Amino acid sequence: MGNCKCDNPYLPYPATIKEVIDETVDVKSFQMVFDDPEVMESFKQQPGQVAQISIFGVGEATISITSSPTRKGILEFSVKKVGQLTAALHDLGPGSRVGVRGPYGNHFPYEIMKGRDLLFVGGGIGLAPLRSLIDFVLAGENRKEFGKVEIIYGARSVDDLCFKYDILDNWPKYDNTDVYVTIDRADMAWQGHVGFVPSYLEEVKPSPLNKYAITCGPPIMIKFVLQALNKMGFQDGQIITTLEMKMKCGIGKCGRCNIGSKFVCLDGPVFTLSQLKELPPEF
Ligand SMILES: Cc1cc2nc3c(=O)[nH]c(=O)nc-3n(C[C@H](O)[C@H](O)[C@H](O)COP(=O)(O)OP(=O)(O)OC[C@H]3O[C@@H](n4cnc5c(N)ncnc54)[C@H](O)[C@@H]3O)c2cc1C
Ligand code: FES
Repeated sequence: MGNCKCDNPYLPYPATIKEVIDETVDVKSFQMVFDDPEVMESFKQQPGQVAQISIFGVGEATISITSSPTRKGILEFSVKKVGQLTAALHDLGPGSRVGVRGPYGNHFPYEIMKGRDLLFVGGGIGLAPLRSLIDFVLAGENRKEFGKVEIIYGARSVDDLCFKYDILDNWPKYDNTDVYVTIDRADMAWQGHVGFVPSYLEEVKPSPLNKYAITCGPPIMIKFVLQALNKMGFQDGQIITTLEMKMKCGIGKCGRCNIGSKFVCLDGPVFTLSQLKELPPEF
């Protein structure tokens, strides 16, 4: 469980921030490297897994690893400033040191997605976990193992679009890959589509045949995206999402993340819609 080879599973490994990318006014991406090259080498994440990032004297937060495992020697996290830890992280720059432990949780089941088309539907910073799988699928020889890739992504405004270099420049260049970007409200600086992600999804109307849909975003977006997918004929087992429930220990000990008998940190954060529907009604 995680990369820790010591007796204390809560012990973070020191890492240094190498680069910080300003994605939006409240989201930054942090590229980090473990100080110990052996830890860097042994940290083997899968797309969709998370890590606990800590700052000494401040605390810890669960953050998805947004970089694909095909990108060696560096880990990337995209973080929205919402509270104590994330604000403190936003104040750090290249050369600053943090703690990282993980990787935790299950991963996107790319093994069963091979040979299928993939539809990604993301909103705001919800693209961060999806990006680890998108880059994994598009990387080198992996690309041949998957069919058509469609990415539908939206944010409130142009300024709120994360990973502009990927959605507008990098990803559309790949073969058999279509990227659809939308913003909620019209903007003089935006020539593209305007409207909410679920309505754009219905306009694009991707076929459910031989396809998995993978979605992540704000709860209200997910609710309407799931309805739209069902309406278009996607079955619950074809729909995969990743939950952002409050997590603390990341290793099944604290009980902070449980839904009925399931622990998001162990059984998730990735679930099919069929699995989610088996969870207790309060969820
Ligand atoms: C599986 C998973 C994956 C995740 N992936 C990502 C990711 O990739 N990127 C990302 O940015 N986040 C991600 N999150 C969410 C992230 O873990 C939380 O946003 C983070 O823990 C917040 O930590 P914090 O210390 O900054 O916020 P906290 O200080 O714990 O605050 C959390 C919330 O409480 C509110 N709050 C804080 N202080 C007060 C106060 N005094 N009064 C009232 N309200 C207050 C904040 O506004 C915020 O909404 C993920 C979570 C999970 C479980
Ligand atoms: S986060 Fe502690 S049990 Fe899941």
